[in-house]
Amino acid sequence: MQTIIEPFRIKSVEPLRHTSREERERILHDAGFNLFLIPARDILIDLLTDSGTSAMSTEQWAAMMRGDESYAGGESFFRLQRVVQDLTGFRHVIPTHQGRAAEHILFTVLCRPGHVVPNNTHFDTTRANIEFMGARAVDLPLPEAADTQLYLDFKGNMDVAALEELIQREGATNIPLVMVTVTNNSGGGQPVSLDNLAAVKAVTARHGIPLYLDACRFAENAWFIRLRDPKCAHLSPKQIAQRMFALADGCTFSAKKDAFANIGGLLCTNDDRLATLETNLLILTEGFPTYGGLAGRDLEAIAVGLEEILDPDYLQYRIASTGYLGRHIADAGVPIVEPPGGHAIYIDCARMLPHIPRERFPAQALAVELYRHAGIRSVEIGSVMFGKSARHELLRLAIPRRVYTQSHIDYVVESILEVNQKRDQIRGFEITEEPPYLRHFSARFRPLSPVPT
Ligand code: F0G
Repeated sequence: MQTIIEPFRIKSVEPLRHTSREERERILHDAGFNLFLIPARDILIDLLTDSGTSAMSTEQWAAMMRGDESYAGGESFFRLQRVVQDLTGFRHVIPTHQGRAAEHILFTVLCRPGHVVPNNTHFDTTRANIEFMGARAVDLPLPEAADTQLYLDFKGNMDVAALEELIQREGATNIPLVMVTVTNNSGGGQPVSLDNLAAVKAVTARHGIPLYLDACRFAENAWFIRLRDPKCAHLSPKQIAQRMFALADGCTFSAKKDAFANIGGLLCTNDDRLATLETNLLILTEGFPTYGGLAGRDLEAIAVGLEEILDPDYLQYRIASTGYLGRHIADAGVPIVEPPGGHAIYIDCARMLPHIPRERFPAQALAVELYRHAGIRSVEIGSVMFGKSARHELLRLAIPRRVYTQSHIDYVVESILEVNQKRDQIRGFEITEEPPYLRHFSARFRPLSPVPT
């Protein structure tokens, strides 16, 4: 493979701090073996999330100085509105402080107890916000996507036949909207095809149900479409993204992902009546509609980020770099969710550590071992996070945008392969303390027997 060159150079740096294995042992102990409870200064490479962790560009920082902090009608809002309308075509652009605030407002306005909201796979905040309204969140991934080893070009697609069946069973009036998450984060960062979106749209339109995109990683999804759908090979990422948005009636968006921003979100719709209800609620919970929970400078950073993210050189590097990490560990025997996703690599820990039963949290055990061995922070997506409803025992390595270089990625590859060598010695955990919900953020653990040396 050709060397991957980052399509940027570095103007401002943040030092990384090395720790010794003894220090990390103590740090793990103090954190109750929960990596969320480790201070960031004690982490060497932080792959906990790609959300809000991007490096901003010179243009973004420059734009922030232009931020108009007027309470009402600030120029920064109009700049952002122009960029979003050009990209998405949506008439109403409502800024929020992050993605989940947009979800909360949307579901408060649309959902009632007894309603059902399907998605290819709901992200946890989406599911939680739907359930908070007394409605039911239903995942409709492709059945074959359950096989982590299967290669599909568009493994994030929604099961359209299952959607049709659900609508027949529940009744269209009980389904206030259908969502499709691009890329499918909880399903392995896998893309959704334009054909699948069109097929979903045909069903929702026939039943008069609005279709929403959870558009956090729309640009990565557009790049995968360009690579894998021959009909789109001649289109720019922006043109593909425009086609994706054109199939939807609205979107929720976390600007902390594919807008290179450290904070921010958007709620968009073409429905005038809905937009009025949403902005009324926005004023109550987020702020005036021309800033919605953000500073003017944040709106500027998002506006510039939304244009930068669609640069083909950036997207090519981004997807190649994530794929490089995935291929190098998978080809050396570490089972990952195949094929590599856009923003993250997911290790299938039930396969890698078959000697640790699910109730002893194999992905948590690997997360702890990777930190102990190399100072790398990742996140468990399995039985710790989802309890008995977990479908897989995954360890997610999410790659912050424009933050780490190729040598950092090589270090991650080497570290994972070293840990893989001694995987037989890795032991499970039990939970000693846990809160009533979202336990993964604050639970404490106890290792079950000696750790590898
Ligand atoms: N939808 C998806 C698909 C997401 O991945 C996230 C966040 C959200 C909505 C919520 O956005 O954080 O701005 O409120 N995902 C992060 C992650 C936290 O680590 O995957 P938010």
